[in-house]
Amino acid sequence: MRRFVGQVAVVTGAGQGIGAAIAERLAAEGAHVVMLDIQEHVLAQSVERMKSMNYSVSSFTLDVSNAEEVEDTIRRTVETVGNIDILVNNAGIAWEEEFIHISDEHWRRIIDVNLNGMFYVAQRVARHMKLNGQGVICNMASTNGLVGEAKYAHYNASKGGVVLLTKTMAIELGPYGIRVNAVCPGYIQTPLSESIDSPETVGRYIEQYIPLGRAGKPADIAGVFAFLASDDAAFINGECIVVDGGQLAF
Ligand SMILES: NC(=O)c1ccc[n+]([C@@H]2O[C@H](COP(=O)([O-])OP(=O)(O)OC[C@H]3O[C@@H](n4cnc5c(N)ncnc54)[C@H](O)[C@@H]3O)[C@@H](O)[C@H]2O)c1
Repeated sequence: MRRFVGQVAVVTGAGQGIGAAIAERLAAEGAHVVMLDIQEHVLAQSVERMKSMNYSVSSFTLDVSNAEEVEDTIRRTVETVGNIDILVNNAGIAWEEEFIHISDEHWRRIIDVNLNGMFYVAQRVARHMKLNGQGVICNMASTNGLVGEAKYAHYNASKGGVVLLTKTMAIELGPYGIRVNAVCPGYIQTPLSESIDSPETVGRYIEQYIPLGRAGKPADIAGVFAFLASDDAAFINGECIVVDGGQLAF
């Protein structure tokens, strides 16, 4: 399938993990992908990999929690590659911490990146898409945005915010021809999740909670983002698709 030939897709957090897989999938289907990430070195490696596969890419280093940087980067993106057809708002951070011990600084950082950053990027890109009268925005939420999990109060709150931000954007932007949806992954094996849980903990978790009996792979999530970004999802708007191997079916 080459559903995105001639289109420009912007992916935040494209340096590694799920964002890198989404960037790869969209590029494999013909999009020019603008890869954004806060980690310069990680981003450079990811861009090199994409170029070695002859994919059409460009990149900017960006901290999504910095509104001025976001404004500037989106402006430069439009100047250099033209209209943005697809935005994948994926950048995010997480760590475990008991509610009672979360510092104000830690609380603010997670909300700043996962929720405020998503707002800055989505709003700046949506303003541009409105001028074109079309566009697709896909936000990265989480099953943690739908149900609670101990030791993730800041993360859960940020992802719950993403779910309702997505629905509200869908209502307001639909009339301009812009569709907005979210994906809620369960446990996916990435540098982020591997930095939090030991393989033993993950093994027990999978056995107890995931009916399909395995962790998700970044490619499992990338395919769903590609579907939502494509015309195959032309009438889907304001939806949050759970991709968790059946975990929330309990
Ligand atoms: N891994 C999972 O199990 C899982 C489950 C549900 C949702 N998610 C969500 O998926 C997204 C990607 O997670 P992942 O597991 O691939 O993580 P990851 O850490 O492997 O990759 C995240 C990428 O985002 C970048 N990033 C972090 N902060 C940034 C910032 N301020 N500005 C720009 N880029 C930034 C990182 O440098 C990194 O390249 C996150 O939003 C995460 O919350 C992950």
